[in-house]
Amino acid sequence: MGIPVRHFDAVIVGAGGAGMRAALQLSEAGLKTAVLSKVFPTRSHTVAAQGGVSASLGNSEEDHWHWHMYDTVKGSDWLGDQDAIEFMCREAPKVVVELEHYGMPFDRNADGTIYQRPFGGHMSNFGEKPVRRACAAADRTGHAMLHALYQRNLRANTHFFVEWMALDLIRDADGNVQGVLAMEMETSEIVMFQAKATLFATGGAGRIFASSTNAFINTGDGLGMAARAGIPLEDMEFWQFHPTGVAGAGVLITEGVRGEGGILRNSAGERFMERYAPNAKDLASRDVVSRAMVTEINEGRGCGPKKDHVLLDITHLDPEVIMSKLPGIREISIKFAGVDPIKEPIPVVPTCHYQMGGIPTNYHGEVVVRGQTVAGFYAAGECACASVHGANRLGTNSLLDLLVFGKSSANSMIEYIKQHPEDLPPLATAEIERSLARVERLNKQTNGVQVNDARVAMQQIMQTHCGVFRFKDKLAEGVEQILEVEKMVLRTEITDKSNVFNTARIEALELENLIEVAKATMVSANARTESRGAHVRDDAVDSEATPNGRDDQNWLKHTLWSREGNKLEYKPVTMKPLTVDTIALKTRSY
Ligand code: FUM
Repeated sequence: MGIPVRHFDAVIVGAGGAGMRAALQLSEAGLKTAVLSKVFPTRSHTVAAQGGVSASLGNSEEDHWHWHMYDTVKGSDWLGDQDAIEFMCREAPKVVVELEHYGMPFDRNADGTIYQRPFGGHMSNFGEKPVRRACAAADRTGHAMLHALYQRNLRANTHFFVEWMALDLIRDADGNVQGVLAMEMETSEIVMFQAKATLFATGGAGRIFASSTNAFINTGDGLGMAARAGIPLEDMEFWQFHPTGVAGAGVLITEGVRGEGGILRNSAGERFMERYAPNAKDLASRDVVSRAMVTEINEGRGCGPKKDHVLLDITHLDPEVIMSKLPGIREISIKFAGVDPIKEPIPVVPTCHYQMGGIPTNYHGEVVVRGQTVAGFYAAGECACASVHGANRLGTNSLLDLLVFGKSSANSMIEYIKQHPEDLPPLATAEIERSLARVERLNKQTNGVQVNDARVAMQQIMQTHCGVFRFKDKLAEGVEQILEVEKMVLRTEITDKSNVFNTARIEALELENLIEVAKATMVSANARTESRGAHVRDDAVDSEATPNGRDDQNWLKHTLWSREGNKLEYKPVTMKPLTVDTIALKTRSY
């Protein structure tokens, strides 16, 4: 085989919130844990999370995990698994307090407790009125979280491999996971990281879209690797468009701005959310707000010379609040929109932000395929589908997901490693050779397609055919077109073959992951002929039996897309929580 092999108890791919929370648990348990990251750990995309992490601490007013659970199920448009959602909401206060004890610099109330702000869809008493549930460190919560976790990991002796890209998941003939093959990005050196337990925490893949709040590193590497290794991807039709990306730039403006009192206005200066969500208004669930904004723009009430955005207004807020609670937002607005939000409203449009689907897991972080756990394989965070977000995620439940499922997957790994004290088995060399051949093909390809051309084609198709509103004919065309782009991706050529930074090779490898995510998304969206959460189609009929186009009789089920044969299958939603009664289906309104 001719490549070096390194041995660990556990290997984690990705050093964002989920990867680092898991690594900490494993390293503190005394296990030899490797974390591979394409970037320096504190530059992982969790760093961009702004508004907060949800937990029913009740620091400012009464709150309860059961109300949080209700909001999450409702936010998910009932597609979320209620066992996993109960688990996450009950764990939330514990994992947030743990993080506080790790040194996370949360903002504070006057009495010293963690500061909490309102966020979209966070309500008290089963949907009655907004509640302050988002625990925040100004508008830099993810940044503060990553630093706290990284420092704690250094203390626990986690082994970080910085600027390493995982290439493929290696499974033996029985399907058991043996670890990952990975490449050092600077030198192209390829090493097999063999471990008893492997966790994917590779984050999202928002870069399949042309306009995204996601970092350039968010290329769905975990999903691509899982798909190539025969693992189906769950609920990939559900993508969240965050209402407030800076118009023209896509950079995130946190929902925390509306939590602090910000208001969305159309060209007439109207607070239009009062018409779409009379109760929650600007703090309705994200899919609801994004659709309202696009409707305003489509009906001619957009702002600016092209009438192509709406305005987020905080000019009525005390500048002191803006400077202390939203300093990063002011900076972003000045830099990317050219406006000081103390004086002028910010131009915003919905922008792709988060994938609700991913690698199918249970709430222990174990990867489960057709009812069977995949031995030695775990996933957590945005690349995983636990499924707690269903068809639409609530703001701040992403940081919570990282903490809860980073920790629970690590606990499952610790248990698995304890139960397997035997030496690591012989490696599946044929699988490794197959992965090496993929890299070799890229190295040798000439007269091919430029990586950038294929990527731009994919991003335009996804944006046009699979956006905030979806259309039957456009989706069907989108499937055809994305399969054409796949052919381009398989013929990409690396023009810069030097080993200096090696970016051309890395971008080509990333594109091979992105295209798997794009195919899964388009094919799954084309097949789901109802509207639910973030997936809204023109041909889904609004009737008594199918309110807002949601068809529970035929579509209350999870999608599973397999790369082999580009096939779909379905599995039931878990409606039974762990200890409380099922949150019964009802029509969603805010
Ligand atoms: O708006 C925000 O601060 C984003 C939070 C989230 O996606 O959870």
